[in-house]
Amino acid sequence: MFKRINQKTLFRKSITIFLLAMTAVMFSSAAMSVQSLRGDSALDSKANKAGKHKIATVEGGIERSFKLQPPMIPHTIDKYKISLKGNGCMKCHSEKAYKKEKAPKVGDSHYVNRDGETLKTISSRRYFCNQCHAPQTKDNPLVENVYEGI
Ligand code: HEC
Ligand code: HEC
Repeated sequence: MFKRINQKTLFRKSITIFLLAMTAVMFSSAAMSVQSLRGDSALDSKANKAGKHKIATVEGGIERSFKLQPPMIPHTIDKYKISLKGNGCMKCHSEKAYKKEKAPKVGDSHYVNRDGETLKTISSRRYFCNQCHAPQTKDNPLVENVYEGI
């Protein structure tokens, strides 16, 4: 005998099957733990405190990767403030001070303003040194860097 399929029942059944399948998918992916470069901590727990990073002091400076690269800073900088009142970096790197401090002089480009004029004091375009120059830490890189300088 022909049995009438109840449309409502069929719909309910397919919904149930779909939900069961979704739950199975969710459980199986939860079983694979997420590994990230910052460590293996659950998303809902606090991440491990970042380790202390020591700034590297590199005698003789850090090799540049290309000719016009702003050179990396080979020393600590936490004591040198840059504010409206003064620029701590220029105590050693200025035209006036560099010889006495045995520090490399800022590039000549640092005295040129946007109109191409050479100024007596550092150009405002170069005032915030850390915009372009950064110190390096002593950490081991998370991934190997195979970049070759040009
Ligand atoms: C107490 C003096 C002093 C102060 C202040 C100072 N530096 Fe230096 N800096 C040096 C000396 C000395 C070197 C050279 C180190 C070496 O080559 O061994 C150097 C090197 C550098 C270099 C590398 C230059 C190159 O050609 O490789 C950069 C960039 C630099 N400093 C930026 C800064 C910045 C930015 C600040 C401020 C946040 C600063 N310095 C503050 C003394 C100083
Ligand atoms: C807008 C980016 C920028 C800013 C800001 C900047 N620099 Fe530079 N710096 C460079 C670049 C690019 C070079 C390399 C080319 C050159 O000499 O112009 C350089 C070179 C240098 C050098 C090496 C010069 C040499 O002849 O080897 C020193 C030292 C330096 N900068 C210090 C400083 C200090 C100190 C400040 C802040 C007062 C500063 N820079 C601000 C981009 C910048």
